[in-house]
Order: sequence, then C-alpha cells, then structure tokens
Amino acid sequence: MSLKLSVIGTGYLGATHAACMASLGFEVIGVDVDPAKIDLLSQGKVPFYEPDLEDLLAEQIKSGRLKFSKNISDIADCDVHFICVGTPQVKNGIAADLTYVNAALESVAPIIKAGSLVVGKSTVPVGTAARLRDRLIEVNPKTDLAWNPEFLREGFAVEDTLRPNRLVVGTNSDQAEATLKKVYAQNLAEGTPWVRADLPTSELVKVAANSFLATKISFINAMAEICEAAGGDVTVLAKAIGYDPRIGNRFLQAGIGFGGGCLPKDIRAFMARAEELGAQQALEFLKEIDSINLRARQRIIELVRKDLVDDLNGKKVAILGAAFKPDSDDVRDSPALDIAAQLQAAGAIVTVHDPKAIANAQKRFPALKFADSIDDTFKDAEIVLHLTEWKIYRELDPAKMKSLVKSSIMIDGRNALDRSAWRAAGWKFRALGVSDNSQIK
Ligand code: UDX
Repeated sequence: MSLKLSVIGTGYLGATHAACMASLGFEVIGVDVDPAKIDLLSQGKVPFYEPDLEDLLAEQIKSGRLKFSKNISDIADCDVHFICVGTPQVKNGIAADLTYVNAALESVAPIIKAGSLVVGKSTVPVGTAARLRDRLIEVNPKTDLAWNPEFLREGFAVEDTLRPNRLVVGTNSDQAEATLKKVYAQNLAEGTPWVRADLPTSELVKVAANSFLATKISFINAMAEICEAAGGDVTVLAKAIGYDPRIGNRFLQAGIGFGGGCLPKDIRAFMARAEELGAQQALEFLKEIDSINLRARQRIIELVRKDLVDDLNGKKVAILGAAFKPDSDDVRDSPALDIAAQLQAAGAIVTVHDPKAIANAQKRFPALKFADSIDDTFKDAEIVLHLTEWKIYRELDPAKMKSLVKSSIMIDGRNALDRSAWRAAGWKFRALGVSDNSQIK
C-alpha cells in the first residue's frame, strides 16, 4: 500500500514538497498555522512566485491526491510527516529562531499513529534533530524522527525537488531509512545519489553546503575588489579560473552579492551554533564572507557617487530589480532593495522596477517609488542600476532605452548585461569588479 504523507509548513519548501510528492503518486496533506495560506493553496493558488509550481499544485489538487488543511488532526493517519517550517534569523542576534520547528514537533507528537516517521527538512542548528527526536519519543514512544535536508533553490524549486542532485538522510535506524527509500523510490531508480548519515551530520551537510556557496560568491567578489584596484576584469578572471574543473564556473558571478531567505541567515546561524559548541574559530572566516558580501552593496553606491559627482540629492536613479535573484518574488535580505533604500536615504529620487517582486518590495519599503513598466523606470533617469538579472533586462534595446533617459549611465551590479552592446549604443557602462581602464570591452 502506498504511503500517506503530511507536510507541516507550506511556504516555499513545504508547498513545493507537497505538490511534488503528490505528483509522484502519494496521497499528501499539507497543514499550516496560517489559514489564509491554506485557503489559497486549497484553491490551487500559490502565495508566492515560483515557476511551474502553480500548474503542478493545481493539477495535483484536481487529481485528489493533494489536500490542504487548517486542522493538524487531519494528518493523524499519515505514515510520514515532513516538517518544512521556516527557521528565520532571531530578531536580536544571529542565531536561528527555532520557535516554528519546536511548535511543529509539539503539534504532531501527540497525534501521530504508532509506527509513523517524522522527517525534518527545515535548516536547523546542529543538535536540534537529536533533541526533537528525544522529545518525540518521550511523547509518542512508538514513532521515530529522521532528518532529510532540502537543497532546493528558489526559481528552480520544482525541478530541484523532483530531480535533486543528492538525497541526504540522517538516521540511525534501518527502518526509517527503508521508509524514506520508499518515498524517494523514483529518484533512487533514476540514480540519484543517496547519502545516509547520522542526525548531526545530516544537519551539518545543509549549512556546510550553503556556507560553501556563500564562500564561493564572496571569494569572487573579493577578487572583484582586487580587479577594480589593479585595473582588471573579474568576469574574465572568473571565466578563466572556472575552466579548472576543481574550481568550476558556477557561483562565480561577481556583483552585489547574495541575499534571500537562506544563505545570509544560514551562515550567521552556523557561526552562532559553532560558538555554542566552543568551535567558533573554525567558522571565523564566515564573518569575513558576510562582510565581503555586505561590502559589495556599498561598493556599488560608491560607483554611483563617482558618476553623479558625489551629490545624490535630487538625482533620478532607475533601479532594475528588487528580488534577491531572478525568477523569484522573494525580497528577503535582497541586495537590490537594500541598495535602492540606501540611495533613497541619501537623497536620490529612486524608481524601482521588478517583473514579479514589486508587491513584496512595497510591503517592505513603502516609501520607495515603484514602476510597472521598464520605460517609466528609465524615463528621465540620470543613472540606471541593473541589480537583479531578470532575462527581460538582458533583452532591452540599449539604443531605445537611451532615448528615454536624461543621462545614459548604466551600472551593472550583476555583470550580466552585454556591455559591448550598451557601449556601442552610446551608454557609459560600468560594472562591479571591472576597472574603468580594463581593455576588454
Ligand atoms: C540557496 C541554495 O542555493 C540552496 O541550495 C538552498 O537550499 C537555499 O539557499 P536560494 O536562496 O534559492 O538557494 O538562492 P541561490 O540561487 O543560491 O542564490 C543566492 C544568492 O546568491 C542570490 O542573491 C544570488 O543572486 C547570489 N549569487 C548567486 C551571486 O551573487 N553570484 C552567484 O554566482 C550565484
């Protein structure tokens, strides 16, 4: 008989996991403490922008395999319960806030049936899973808890969930592993690598992976600083080092750095946990990774100042992008929005465009001006900043855009535009990590 699954927490991670598991043929029920979210999901609507998710979700609801409920007791007869709630940064520090994870465990522990398995997917500080497992067994001795970290990227959530590049399962129990092998039978048949670990290692895999990715980005942004100082071009440098397969060319895109709901808070929570464990020295470098990342936001503001002769007051600045990355409407810790807000605070008249993230950006920064059309954003601008590399911005016609602005200066904060095309159309074009006198145009 096929397993019945529950998903606790229906944000980016949970909603995607629920829809994808249903598409594999499982009966799935998703629960969340936010009734508005459940109402939307039940109608087949996704409360955020994620390519392909809404179609998949609507299709699975129609099939009858996927349901959403406000009532936690509806999950009681499920065999496997995935905890997918958020672990944001605490308000007054750098650690992870475990309120939602703890609450999720407390809500499922007393009601689930004997023999069922709770599986944590949220990103948590190492040691959390063992503590939650102890608590679960104290309340409901005939159950078990395993950890199965999630590596999905926003913008590719469905693809990453259906075709992950590896599956990591933290458990000391062969039975729990066998249950999860049933859940992921299709991935296993397709040859997805399967890594069994103990609970702490499985928790560490996730934060180690995110720390590595953050390090790669900050490394190339450190090289960008050096290129600017030495008269070089970081895009050429990245391309050249990336041909070495030990280095690889991905995640070497220099620019205004990383943001979002994961990398920044995960590296900070990792440092906080290392300190609790007395191992803070091992992660000292992450402090530097964080500062290089935040420094990139200042460096682009310096570039703007350089071109507007220091005085931003009353200057019209057009900003392309508000989301922390393309194909997402997520503005959590978005470098683009942070830069927009800082320029406005310095007296500039800032207009921001984004194809999907304006509603979220407006909630966070109601005082910023937003435009629905790219043309309106460019109109009379004295400088344009490209801060989130949406495809539509790469497809702009530089000659046409030049006719709209007051002064044709483009700063590419993502090194993603075709700089020779913009220069050929008469734009003064600058980018982070590319010195003014770099010979490569
Ligand atoms: C990340 C991890 O990739 C994913 O495995 C984990 O599960 C959650 O955190 P996500 O937050 O969706 O995923 O974004 P990601 O694609 O990793 O990008 C993070 C940030 O880094 C973005 O702001 C992006 O613009 C920036 N970035 C990425 C760069 O600045 N340069 C790069 O080369 C790559």
